[in-house]
Amino acid sequence: MALNCVLFFLLATFATTVSATDHIVGANKGWNPGINYTLWSSNQTFYVGDLISFRYKKTQHNVFEVNKNGYDNCIIEGAFGNWSSGRDFILLNKSKRYYFICGIGGCSDGMKVSVVVHPLPPPPPSPSAIAAMHSSEKAAAPTTVGGFESLVVRLMLVGLMVYGCGRI
Ligand SMILES: *[C@@H]1O[C@H](CO)[C@@H](O)[C@H](O)[C@H]1NC(C)=O
Ligand SMILES: *[C@@H]1O[C@H](CO)[C@@H](O)[C@H](O)[C@H]1NC(C)=O
Ligand SMILES: *[C@@H]1O[C@H](CO)[C@@H](O)[C@H](O)[C@H]1NC(C)=O
Ligand SMILES: *[C@@H]1O[C@H](CO)[C@@H](O)[C@H](O)[C@H]1NC(C)=O
Repeated sequence: MALNCVLFFLLATFATTVSATDHIVGANKGWNPGINYTLWSSNQTFYVGDLISFRYKKTQHNVFEVNKNGYDNCIIEGAFGNWSSGRDFILLNKSKRYYFICGIGGCSDGMKVSVVVHPLPPPPPSPSAIAAMHSSEKAAAPTTVGGFESLVVRLMLVGLMVYGCGRI
């Protein structure tokens, strides 16, 4: 296989496997008092490998990862970790509920956020699996279409790869 083809292949593989999301806490409102972060967190889905990031004035606030008791009662004792750069990116590498609070007073003013991190969704079905599904008489409408977009990307990349290799 020509080197160009190998590069195309590596690129295609990379592009289809890297899809971690960076969840910016509070979106354009950032990490500040007086914001209901329950509304923010319930509006998105977190998967293992995603990042959660906090943006704030580092002289005024910070971030502590605590347990449920720490979250409910605004207590930082026994925290799992703390961050204070003003622009903190935290890897959500476990499937569990995470709790973050501000450790400098802001917690009682609403600076607390809890997110549920889900296991990675199953990979999209392969083209042959889809073909098998379509040829089956009993094939019901799929209940989820989560993998569809990434399947399209995958097929496009494969097309690109074939096209690219063919032209070399
Ligand atoms: C935030 O919004 C949720 C959902 O509407 C609500 O249940 C909760 O009481 C609110 N929290 C605060 C502190 O207002
Ligand atoms: C939920 O997310 C959508 C799309 O990102 C946004 O338009 C909407 O304002 C969000 N709603 C809340 C309550 O944050
Ligand atoms: C913050 O984290 C550092 C280690 O990263 C630790 O040494 C320090 O005790 C923590 N601070 C508090 C208040 O828990
Ligand atoms: C997850 O990240 C934390 C903090 O960065 C680290 O201590 C821990 O070992 C990681 N766990 C896994 C399963 O990678």
